[in-house]
Amino acid sequence: MMSTENQPYGATSAGRLWGARFSDGPAQAAWELGVSIATDHRMWPYDLASSTAHADELLRIGVLTAADHAAITGALDTIRESFALGEFEYTPDDEDIHGAIERRLVELLGETGGRLRAGRSRNDQVINDARLWLAQAIDDQRAGLKHVITTLADQAALHAEAIAPGFTHLQRAQPVTIGHHLAAYGWMLARDLDRLHDCKDRIMAVSPLGSGALAGLTLPLDPMQYAQALGYTGIAPNSMDAVADRDFMVEYLAAVAIIGMHLSRLCEDIILWSSVEFGWARCSDAFSTGSSIMPQKRNPDIAELVRGKAGRLFGAVQALLTMCKGLPLTYNRDLQEDKVVLFDAADTLDVVLPAVAGMIEGLTFNTTHVAAGAGGGFAMATDIAEALVRAGMPFRQAHEVVGSLVASCEAEGIDIIDLSPAQLAERVPALQGLDTAALSALVNPHAGVARRNAPNGAGAVREQVVRLRAAIS
Ligand code: ARG
Repeated sequence: MMSTENQPYGATSAGRLWGARFSDGPAQAAWELGVSIATDHRMWPYDLASSTAHADELLRIGVLTAADHAAITGALDTIRESFALGEFEYTPDDEDIHGAIERRLVELLGETGGRLRAGRSRNDQVINDARLWLAQAIDDQRAGLKHVITTLADQAALHAEAIAPGFTHLQRAQPVTIGHHLAAYGWMLARDLDRLHDCKDRIMAVSPLGSGALAGLTLPLDPMQYAQALGYTGIAPNSMDAVADRDFMVEYLAAVAIIGMHLSRLCEDIILWSSVEFGWARCSDAFSTGSSIMPQKRNPDIAELVRGKAGRLFGAVQALLTMCKGLPLTYNRDLQEDKVVLFDAADTLDVVLPAVAGMIEGLTFNTTHVAAGAGGGFAMATDIAEALVRAGMPFRQAHEVVGSLVASCEAEGIDIIDLSPAQLAERVPALQGLDTAALSALVNPHAGVARRNAPNGAGAVREQVVRLRAAIS
């Protein structure tokens, strides 16, 4: 049970910013459910920054004297230093980061420390802190994501001409290159990078300070001053919206879930490629793991872990949406749970991104083996059908002609690429206008890739990689 006696200000316990209207403190079980310091302590830099901005505003409107202001901002600096050194001491009644900092302020300054709370509420404070925390996290994570994209671009450039089967339905479809396949993921992640950028812009467009608990303030504090001091580009247009809104967090978590989905698909490919059955790729020793019983094992655990973490990331956005969907305006304590999922998702991405970058960096391909499969599985069928179109045949008919060619080859146990130019021309008389070189190019997967030389195609991977690098720089 929290004691309410011998506290500096009556029933308001030092690190708990309320209590005078109660005859006793909260039950232990109630306290333990509500205390959030273990989660929200990490927002201290932003709580302190906004406290300093708030002290400046209180000075401007005359609520603080110059002496009080100097004492408070000096004490905030002292507190900041103790956090930075990891020496800030929490007490058992620090309910959350806002309470802990005010408690310390009062310890340092006595009654003067209690003046800073005028004109603000934890409702606008907490959402301010979360916005600023997330904006910084996004900056850091964009750098991590850029690194992942760069490793993909490097590998794509290295394998720009390394031909490979391209799949649909995991069945060989048309030849591509390993570089084309890897760069595809680079472009997905480049969009994710943009999404995070946009998300941060929206976060920083709305300073919630000056909203108070929900209705705005009776003191003449200027919301624009806070915005300027803290680097926001604008202020909340509606104080109720400001304290109730969590959609910036949902947006971030959605962007992170999409990143998780993209990385999970990439990892799924890497897991397949690493199997003996595929035999395409090998993760470096540093990004592979062994088995406790089977001495021969070389497992792609890192890729599997990332694929698994995607589920956790999807859960975060789902959890926050569910938390918010039934809440009447404005603040409800349910919202304290927002940071649990926010931080968990951000922390998860923080460990995922460097691991993915390292795994991609260390990936090696058996390019000879990969190339050997590129033209097989009737992967050259579309090329022949399109050659017939160039010779004037309607595609519908060309599809039938090549379908019959595939059926007859299949019956004989051969592939289209096994046919000599003469055999091909004999089986598909409409191709007889082509010379030997053109006929053999038709069944050559390298030539098939080279034919697809539009900017998006398998034959233009080098240029794509240049554009990808430019897109993220
Ligand atoms: N720790 C609280 C949270 O994270 C701060 C806001 C508390 N506001 C309130 N009205 N109880 O949401």
